[in-house]
Amino acid sequence: MKDKYLLGIIGFGGMAGHHYTQLSKGNTKVEIKGVFDLNPDRLKVAEEKGLVAYKSKEELLCDPEIDIVLVATTNEVHADLCIEAMKCGKHVICEKPVTPTADELLPVMEAAKKYNKVFTVDQNRRTNKDFVLMKRTVESGVIGEPYVIESRVEGSRGMPSGWRTIKALGGGMMLDWGVHLIDQLMYMYYDVKVTSVYCTKNSIQYPEVDDNFRMVMTFENGVEARIEVATNNYITHPRWYVLGKNGTLQIDDWNCDGKVVRCIDKEDKWAEEIVYTKAGPTKTMAPRNPNSVETITLSEPMDVVDNLDPVYWQMVDAIEGKAELTIKPEEALRVIKVMEAAMKSWETNEVIKLNV
Ligand SMILES: NC(=O)c1ccc[n+]([C@@H]2O[C@H](COP(=O)([O-])OP(=O)(O)OC[C@H]3O[C@@H](n4cnc5c(N)ncnc54)[C@H](O)[C@@H]3O)[C@@H](O)[C@H]2O)c1
Repeated sequence: MKDKYLLGIIGFGGMAGHHYTQLSKGNTKVEIKGVFDLNPDRLKVAEEKGLVAYKSKEELLCDPEIDIVLVATTNEVHADLCIEAMKCGKHVICEKPVTPTADELLPVMEAAKKYNKVFTVDQNRRTNKDFVLMKRTVESGVIGEPYVIESRVEGSRGMPSGWRTIKALGGGMMLDWGVHLIDQLMYMYYDVKVTSVYCTKNSIQYPEVDDNFRMVMTFENGVEARIEVATNNYITHPRWYVLGKNGTLQIDDWNCDGKVVRCIDKEDKWAEEIVYTKAGPTKTMAPRNPNSVETITLSEPMDVVDNLDPVYWQMVDAIEGKAELTIKPEEALRVIKVMEAAMKSWETNEVIKLNV
């Protein structure tokens, strides 16, 4: 056990900068010593922040003071860098997605076993407050048994230029945001198998990659997750919309504004006469008596720590043998298998059966 664990970062771009900002607050036992990046401008930025700018990745990996390596490069080189770092005796945290395919992830998992190193993934959105609020509310039973969970992130500004638009570098929205939204729901249903996936995509701005996708992921318990990532929506849906057998949950946005409307009187005695609405007569869709439902306002859960600290806390606990990782490589593998199935689905226009 140490007072401090020194971190070396390979790939000091935007996300690594975020790790720097959060770790600089000193809430964890992890301190950044230095970085390596192929781009000399990023090394200059690191030096300006008082960090060591290593001349090569080998120099960083051979520094005996470095305990942990953060791999935060573009996705196509994650696997090789993770394996090399563990071979050099470092624990590794890798940005998501570790790899675009399960076959590429397996050797990384094997390396962690072979070199007896802690290997985890930055699935940091498990602590997003909107997700925690949805999970807690559903698990409280207030809307009854859930059967549809809709999870969406939608923008209208297209995708940022650069590697995200290039397939060979691991671009596209499935690997960028899809990995988070799928991980959140597979974490929620960690012991329930995913049995099928159907997915369609659009390439509106960038023909090479999916800049929009819509997916249906079915769990063995019957819960149907509808996941959508979009970059061309000028009117957006709620962040979360969940149907339970006794109520409905909606969370509008990342601010956690939302509500539950739950049934307190089934109103199953139907009037003899048909009801007239602006759209004509109906019985089934007639508005209900407002006194037959209860509305519960939802708000931001203030007790949740939603930043990168929990990702590092669980890693340090695992290094010190105090607890198992909460973000396990096996979980990353499940998510990657689902993403692969989604991509196969949009290529074949078929429902892909799974058991993961
Ligand atoms: N967890 C999250 O919420 C989150 C958010 C954004 C990005 N990410 C992930 O972080 C990673 C980086 O994304 P970003 O937005 O920071 O991209 P970025 O382009 O800003 O940064 C990537 C950096 O890696 C460097 N690089 C590329 N190949 C390298 C190599 N072989 N050796 C050394 N440096 C190399 C580039 O020069 C660049 O500075 C991606 O895997 C992405 O999916 C995660």
